[in-house]
Amino acid sequence: MNERPTDETPASADANLRQEEPARGAQPTRQGTPRALPEDALIIVPVRNVVLFPGMVVPLTVGRERSRAAAHEAARLQRPLGVLLQSNAEAEEPGPDDLHWVGTTANVLRYITSPEGTHHAICQGAKRFRVLQFIEGYPFMAAQVEIIDPPEPGDPDTEGRAHALKQRALETLQLLPQVPEEVVGALTGLTGASRLADFISGLMDIAPSEKQALLETFDLKARLDKLLELLSHRIEVLKVSREIDERTRGSIEDSNRKHVLREQMRQIQKELGEGDEAAAEVAELEKAIDEAKMPEEVDKQARKELKRLQRMPEGAGEYSMIRTYLDWLIELPWKAESEAAIDIAQARRILDDDHFGLEKIKKRILEYLAVRKLNPSGRSPILCFVGPPGVGKTSLGQSIAKATGRKFVRVSLGGVHDEAEIRGHRRTYIGALPGNIVQNMRKVGTHNCVMMLDEVDKLGVGGFHGDPGSALLEVLDPEQNSTFRDNYLAVPFDLSSVMFICTANVLDTIPGPLRDRMEVIQLPGYTAEEKLQIARRYLVARQLAATGLKPEQCEITDEALMAIVGDYTREAGVRNLEREIGTVLRGVAVRIAEGAVAHAKIGPDDLAAMLGPRRFEAEVAMRSGVPGVATGLAWTPVGGDILFIEATRMPGAGRLILTGQLGDVMKESAQAALSLVKARSPELGFAPELFEKSDIHVHVPAGATPKDGPSAGVAMFVALTSLLTGRPVKSDVAMTGEISLRGLVLPIGGVKEKVLAALRAGITTVLLPARNRRDFEEIPPSARETLRIVWVERVDEAIAAALSPAPAEVAPAPA
Ligand SMILES: Nc1ncnc2c1ncn2[C@@H]1O[C@H](COP(=O)(O)OP(=O)(O)OP(=O)(O)O)[C@@H](O)[C@H]1O
Ligand SMILES: [Mg+2]
Repeated sequence: MNERPTDETPASADANLRQEEPARGAQPTRQGTPRALPEDALIIVPVRNVVLFPGMVVPLTVGRERSRAAAHEAARLQRPLGVLLQSNAEAEEPGPDDLHWVGTTANVLRYITSPEGTHHAICQGAKRFRVLQFIEGYPFMAAQVEIIDPPEPGDPDTEGRAHALKQRALETLQLLPQVPEEVVGALTGLTGASRLADFISGLMDIAPSEKQALLETFDLKARLDKLLELLSHRIEVLKVSREIDERTRGSIEDSNRKHVLREQMRQIQKELGEGDEAAAEVAELEKAIDEAKMPEEVDKQARKELKRLQRMPEGAGEYSMIRTYLDWLIELPWKAESEAAIDIAQARRILDDDHFGLEKIKKRILEYLAVRKLNPSGRSPILCFVGPPGVGKTSLGQSIAKATGRKFVRVSLGGVHDEAEIRGHRRTYIGALPGNIVQNMRKVGTHNCVMMLDEVDKLGVGGFHGDPGSALLEVLDPEQNSTFRDNYLAVPFDLSSVMFICTANVLDTIPGPLRDRMEVIQLPGYTAEEKLQIARRYLVARQLAATGLKPEQCEITDEALMAIVGDYTREAGVRNLEREIGTVLRGVAVRIAEGAVAHAKIGPDDLAAMLGPRRFEAEVAMRSGVPGVATGLAWTPVGGDILFIEATRMPGAGRLILTGQLGDVMKESAQAALSLVKARSPELGFAPELFEKSDIHVHVPAGATPKDGPSAGVAMFVALTSLLTGRPVKSDVAMTGEISLRGLVLPIGGVKEKVLAALRAGITTVLLPARNRRDFEEIPPSARETLRIVWVERVDEAIAAALSPAPAEVAPAPA
């Protein structure tokens, strides 16, 4: 008998196995006494890790001496092998105790030797067997066995289980990746419950010991149940793992997809010529930042923001916010340009060219420029032009800009109530913007402009939204304005080389701390003569140009201009005058364009047709001349004005009625005037009892305009005296002055404006408080020449100068 130890290692049938000659051709090696193997005995091959099931084909590695002997003998005798799983996988020369005693008979289909020289036997499982006893005395293992091969039961129970098992198996295969078609085919074609069970058992991916347990379960039903259970579990596991797999693959695919889409978009943009726009934009911004020559702190901030921008998708809401902010930073004038030296002579020329008169003011401006020229780094005061509308405040500012070769920008502060309008809103607010100052710096585009802050007197006072005045202080204060901080920019901006000029109509509403920092220059208004000159030299030419007429086509005589000044306008400035001249010239333009005339010469008589009836004709003459009416002089923000005090008497009980929107001070001044009149009744020539049976009514038109102040005292006294004595006030006399109960005339303000107003109204004599003599110098020489000024110290002098002598027939008013 040939004995051959066989051995095996976990088998793997692989492609690089080379087929050898069939096993039966192999010559057995004789070793010791041959002994015939009993009929019921099997040549045993122990294997590690492989459980052979009936019907299964498995390559077994034949390495051990005894295994090889066994294979040889089996081939020689043409008998099947008995394959047993080692229970102790470590045993090199396994004995009966190292083996499971249930196994499968195997027919060797062929032997092959791999290129490395290892031998393999391709075996097919046939039947289960159980070892009854091992037999000694052979060069290989042998055992007496009992073949276990029950017939197919064929009962519905088994059939049903088999059917279910097949379904589950197919299901499992579907869940497995890359299952060969043949396996599915083989499974579908299988018949017989036990063959099915064995086939599936062989395929199962379970531990060898578990497989052994299946092999040892001889009861078919029990085995089917066990398999069903195993498969169900397997299916669950497979499903879960597949789900996880799909999910992870899903998320990977998702990010992949985005990447792919983005890439595609980039390509499309490129195709459309929009490619790399974002990158180009960033590069452009970077270049602009380089060129803006910002101070270090600002530069750092700009680059930080640029970096944030780069990281941001273009659609993000914050993107445009940052972009806008960067634009602001870039476009602000950070660079300090070298300043051309101021040419004082040229500055004088420019000021003279643009403005008639205003000698004192021009002188002051030239002084200011000279100081700036000699000491550019020194702190120059902030000029503030104060005066009524249309006197040339704004245009003087423009001339200063021209004279110094700077750009001019105007910031209107009228109605600014919110600090943020000056200092801007923080960037965290939606739609936030820098304040007025920074906005205009960007607009003007140069560091050293002339910035005119118009209407500082109309600045709202501090309230809920912070004090705009204190923000403006910071702008104007040379100590602070080199690091002016706008809330939006949030970086300091240097305003120290800006030349600030303020304008206002009145002084007293300018916040105190602000006024302290300014050098006030008053522009009181023009006389008629000055207006004529301004019209001649500037306004007519400007309006000619505006209407498109040539100077030779139209001529306005001085008389006509004077008539416009006197009869059609009453103002301190020249704005209405310019407007009326414009109206006249447009009328001429129509006639010339119609072809009616080729040349027009406008005299005073032509005006009515073009401007309508005279607007301010002898108002004074009309109103006065009646006892009880006096002409007062008032000071208003728009210049001086005349005002009428009307007094009348009616039967009553000695009351004083005051109308015309008089303020408290003015009311008191009326009371004082009445008391004074009562106290002087004997000297004035009427009975004090008069008052007991009368009510006195004092009215000051225009009734809708609020009026206040004590300076109408003299006029009230004169009006009341006129009423009670019946002596009318001379129609060409106007007066101003406060009164005391002792009959003194006290000084008042705004002398110059008042005198000019009187002049405009056609007054020839003005009564002024004697203590205002110090203001005489202020009065324009032309006014001094044409007006008779009476300085009054006591009310009696006022009466003497203002009232016409009592007509003989007019008796003191009856009671
Ligand atoms: N002395 C002058 N010589 C020539 N033109 C003058 C003179 N004064 C004023 N003007 C002209 O009158 C017009 C009105 O002047 P401007 O706008 O400067 O007035 P303003 O004082 O700024 O008034 P507002 O207080 O209303 O702003 C301008 O066209 C200006 O050129
Ligand atoms: Mg102005």
